[in-house]
Amino acid sequence: MTAVPAPTTPDLSAPPEVGLDGGTTLLAWLRRMRDEQPVWRDPAGRVHVFRHEDIQRITADPALYSSDTVSRLSGGERQPPGGTLLLLDPPRHGKLRRLVSKVFTAKMISELAPRITDVATELLDGLDGSDRFDLVDAFANPLPVIVISSLLGVPPSDRPLFQVWADSLLTVDWETPEGAEVLGRTVQELDAYLRQHVAERRAREHDDLMSLLVRAEVDGEGLNDDDVVSFAALLLLAGHVTTAVLLGNMLLTLDLEEGLQDRLRADRGAIAPFTEEVLRCRPPFLKIERVPTSSVEIAGAKVPENTMMFLWLLSANRDERVFSEPDRFLPDRPNAKQVAFGHGIHYCLGAPLARMEGQIALNLMLDRYADIRVDHDSPLSYFDNRVNVFGLRQLPLRVRRA
Ligand code: HEM
Repeated sequence: MTAVPAPTTPDLSAPPEVGLDGGTTLLAWLRRMRDEQPVWRDPAGRVHVFRHEDIQRITADPALYSSDTVSRLSGGERQPPGGTLLLLDPPRHGKLRRLVSKVFTAKMISELAPRITDVATELLDGLDGSDRFDLVDAFANPLPVIVISSLLGVPPSDRPLFQVWADSLLTVDWETPEGAEVLGRTVQELDAYLRQHVAERRAREHDDLMSLLVRAEVDGEGLNDDDVVSFAALLLLAGHVTTAVLLGNMLLTLDLEEGLQDRLRADRGAIAPFTEEVLRCRPPFLKIERVPTSSVEIAGAKVPENTMMFLWLLSANRDERVFSEPDRFLPDRPNAKQVAFGHGIHYCLGAPLARMEGQIALNLMLDRYADIRVDHDSPLSYFDNRVNVFGLRQLPLRVRRA
């Protein structure tokens, strides 16, 4: 258990970094913004939205609030890749979503449970003999990468490549020239790699998601190679770090909330509601993006057409207008309104998979270790706000074998 530091008084001019104190000051800033400036224009002219009610309304209206930031902000000069579901608007979004939903089914995901259990067990076996390890490096990062790559059907020997690409895409600072170069190179390498696998599946069917995508059709229309490649890349990006961060946030919460670890060990049925409350309190994505397709008014503020808007999921999940005592961790609270996976037509396609991975991983850790503590010998390292992730880069643990 560690004391949560008192927040410093937030200056309203910019969102405070999570790394200052693990988010305490950022949360205080978000609370003030919800009360005083629920719609705020930052110095760069981008608009931030903080209240749950507004975020829910905006995400429920894709005609007025576009997800296609790429073409809207480039004045139509650039287009998002055809399979990047996240950036598509109706009607193209609905078509692609129906198509991938045909293969990304609840049945297919639940059939992955034994595979996830095997992978997680193998990773934990590799740690036997050590009573200290870094959760993120040793477990939380490799687990989702292995799961996504085996889902796609990538050879096991290539998984280290996936790990390197996914890490590089997430951590590189694309606002610097060196970062932009690394990013460009990574995107090219990943694209070439996936394209080769798609071509192989056009030639000969394999038993994997990529083969299903290559052959899937809605109303007689299928996906071309660009679509399959960009969708596969999206799965890798959307499903890797988010799930790893969720696992880190689950273990951090166990350390912060006294008695919770014993309670979960004794009552495994409580792991599912625990996971939902972790998602509410610590959503892996800080915010999502939308662009209004015409001039709009939100909470009394006018926002012009084609303005970049950030919808703060962390703020919506801590909104006292929806959740009573929002800063208390109450695993038994009703959580149907938490928005860690978004809302509306873009609701996360991988939510059941992420929940299942988190719950399987935690169950296995509670089986294996009689005690799990965060090692506070050195300060915890959080992602920068720029990365848009609310969670830990590293999480050193001390464990005692059961
Ligand atoms: C805890 C883990 C995860 C979190 C917090 C998360 C969060 C989100 C959020 C907030 C959105 C909506 C974005 C928006 O409306 O702009 C989204 C969409 C999406 N997520 Fe996840 N995600 C997670 C795991 C996964 C996994 C494991 C996969 C797949 C392997 C995945 C695939 C997707 C896809 C394909 C979309 C786009 C859906 C659409 O546009 O229709 N996610 N995710």
